[in-house]
Amino acid sequence: MSLFKDMLKSGETLFRDTVFLSYDFQPKILYGRENEQQRFAIAIKPLLQGHNGRNLFVYGAPGIGKTTACRHVLRELEEETDETIPIYINCWKENTTYKIFYKICEEIGFKFLHNKNTNELFAMIKSKLNKGGVVFIFDEIDKLDETDFLYTILEDIYRKTIILITNYRDSYTELDERIRSRLNPEFLYFRPYNESEIANILRQRRDYAFVQGCWDEESFKEIIEKCVETNDVRIGLYLMREAGNLAEENSLRKITLANAAAAIKKAEDFHIKSKDLLEEDLRHILNIVQDNSGKKIGDVYTLYQQNGGEMSYKSFQRRIVKLKESNFISTEKVSGKDGNTTIVNFAQHKKLTDF
Ligand SMILES: Nc1ncnc2c1ncn2[C@@H]1O[C@H](COP(=O)(O)OP(=O)(O)OP(=O)(O)O)[C@@H](O)[C@H]1O
Ligand SMILES: [Mg+2]
Repeated sequence: MSLFKDMLKSGETLFRDTVFLSYDFQPKILYGRENEQQRFAIAIKPLLQGHNGRNLFVYGAPGIGKTTACRHVLRELEEETDETIPIYINCWKENTTYKIFYKICEEIGFKFLHNKNTNELFAMIKSKLNKGGVVFIFDEIDKLDETDFLYTILEDIYRKTIILITNYRDSYTELDERIRSRLNPEFLYFRPYNESEIANILRQRRDYAFVQGCWDEESFKEIIEKCVETNDVRIGLYLMREAGNLAEENSLRKITLANAAAAIKKAEDFHIKSKDLLEEDLRHILNIVQDNSGKKIGDVYTLYQQNGGEMSYKSFQRRIVKLKESNFISTEKVSGKDGNTTIVNFAQHKKLTDF
């Protein structure tokens, strides 16, 4: 019988509740973002005192808590006062001025909006929101098709804090000059987490999501390491769920090192596949980096031009940053006799080949 004692019985599960592994879950405790939350609070505070707020431009890599930290502050604001209204818009979903105004109207309680045009929607917003303070959060602004709404809000809503969130610092320079000069934001960079912060974040989620004792430290550490390597908390959450599923499929009571390794492998395949989903110009540049890993960025650009590439060096650099932020490549700054330069490496998945 001892052969079967470590096996899950039918109906038994390793998961207490998978909701805690979902990407949208709002954890009660946020690790390592005290300073950033403080900056949000400082920007919003004047609104509570009846003044105009400050604006923030928030940027940083994917999966490092920008949205979560911001929502955390909004939740506290809601508990504190009814006079300052928080409005959160995801610009991936709402990517035009019309859609954004429509969404804002919905959020502040207007109904029967279908036959209203953009101007009419904004007139309603204005009449309601100019009674008090407003915190606008526009998340994922790099996905916007239009930015006129920002100009309109900047001009016609009086007491506000506008927080823009994006992965790319350059999204700022892409904004219209008239918007930039009115927005005049402070910049808030979200640094990647260090290993102990990632471990704390994942441990908290693990303890909520899984039955006690089903992770041994070794398997869990493997997941942390991979997550640290990619810098993206979502990868850690995904890996925990996958490893748990794999253990269950094998009726195991404990998640083994092999389960963790298989989950990591699966994430890798997923990652490699997603390369096909990159936009064509990014894919083209990635292919060149892959064939010329370890070269200086200027040399890679020359190769790109020789391959028929037409974009400017500045645009090329932006694509390199994008590829880096999506973990397809890594870059390192080096200083040599000709000054500083950046070396571009194709992402090596050293750890994976170890299994
Ligand atoms: N400090 C933290 N404490 C607890 N959980 C965190 C923390 N930071 C991030 N997370 C979790 O990591 C996941 C990703 O975070 P979030 O969605 O905020 O990333 P993001 O920086 O907005 O990424 P993107 O740029 O891709 O939108 C979420 O599930 C979130 O709960
Ligand atoms: Mg986000």
